[in-house]
Amino acid sequence: SDIDKGTYPHYMLKEMDEQPAVVRRITQKYENEAGQLTIDPAIQQAIQEADRLYIIAAGTSYHAGLIGKQYFEKLAKIPVEVHIASEFGYNMPLLSKKPLFIFISQSGETADSRQVLVKVKELGYQALTMTNAPGSTLSREADYTLLLHAGPEIAVASTKAYVAQVAVLAITAYVVADQPEIELKKELGIAANAIQSIIDRKEEFAKLAESFLATTRNAFFIGRGMDYYVSMEGALKLKEISYIQAEGFAGGELKHGTIALIEDGTPVIALATQKEVALNLRGNVKEVVARGANPCIISMEGMEEANDAITIPHVHPLLSPLAAVVPVQLISYYAALQRGCDVDKPRNLAKSVTVE
Ligand code: G6P
Repeated sequence: SDIDKGTYPHYMLKEMDEQPAVVRRITQKYENEAGQLTIDPAIQQAIQEADRLYIIAAGTSYHAGLIGKQYFEKLAKIPVEVHIASEFGYNMPLLSKKPLFIFISQSGETADSRQVLVKVKELGYQALTMTNAPGSTLSREADYTLLLHAGPEIAVASTKAYVAQVAVLAITAYVVADQPEIELKKELGIAANAIQSIIDRKEEFAKLAESFLATTRNAFFIGRGMDYYVSMEGALKLKEISYIQAEGFAGGELKHGTIALIEDGTPVIALATQKEVALNLRGNVKEVVARGANPCIISMEGMEEANDAITIPHVHPLLSPLAAVVPVQLISYYAALQRGCDVDKPRNLAKSVTVE
């Protein structure tokens, strides 16, 4: 069954392996008979009629939301705000005239998100929930639901649900866009293949984790643009399961303070998949290397340089998070394993948090 670990030592490993299939399944689920990507017309209309989208989420789902903002703004030209659920309820920004709220939640049960949903419904606004759990609280209480179709996610650290969220956000933005400048269906297929080829190189990531993260106290992730959001997710993954203190930074921001923490051998994992900022990002890597950092550059085919630790296959720059997240998931997994941590059930964490 779907919730059987089979021969896998951990659910997390199984769920990472499922990611190419998840992207393909989503593409099929959101396809009409003519093979075009589509969503429920009522949802399409609700988004098109909104003057601003408010994405509300927690944890990994919040990181997917940051990428979703780029999709809605770049493809569909709809302004978006992304908010942490636990802050939004009592610290609401001034809302636009016709807001639509989008709740992103793997479980559909996160209390921090639910309290916001209850408030915005009381205020008379419309809400859409993107969730992996049909019939969940957030799905039932919202006006609309878009399903992630990732299959049950058991490991506490979210992997395939994140990839599903990014894919469904891309499809949604694409469908509501007037003239999207991307052949999304084709590009999702390319991304699924890229994920597969990264997953097929597991030993490389195990070795990297061993050489970079075996004994370190802390680690930094940097990236610019889309890679910045993936850096945040990479840091969260590493913290959650390996207990290494980690932070994700915008490439240009680390030097404004946090660079003080760089010592001899401090691991800095740098994502370089965005062509227009690749040079600047590599400049930021030089800054930390000059202070002794141990760099691990994850670049994309066509942009790679001789000493990059990992080069992932080329995917559309907007979809790069789908591929770029996989190396950081795998590195985190192997770091946790090598440090003797309980990968699927990290201390202090729950799969879904039903208290505020
Ligand atoms: C918990 C989990 C995280 C997850 C977050 C949001 O803190 O440990 O992995 O990202 O909740 O969960 P949701 O189900 O709302 O996406």
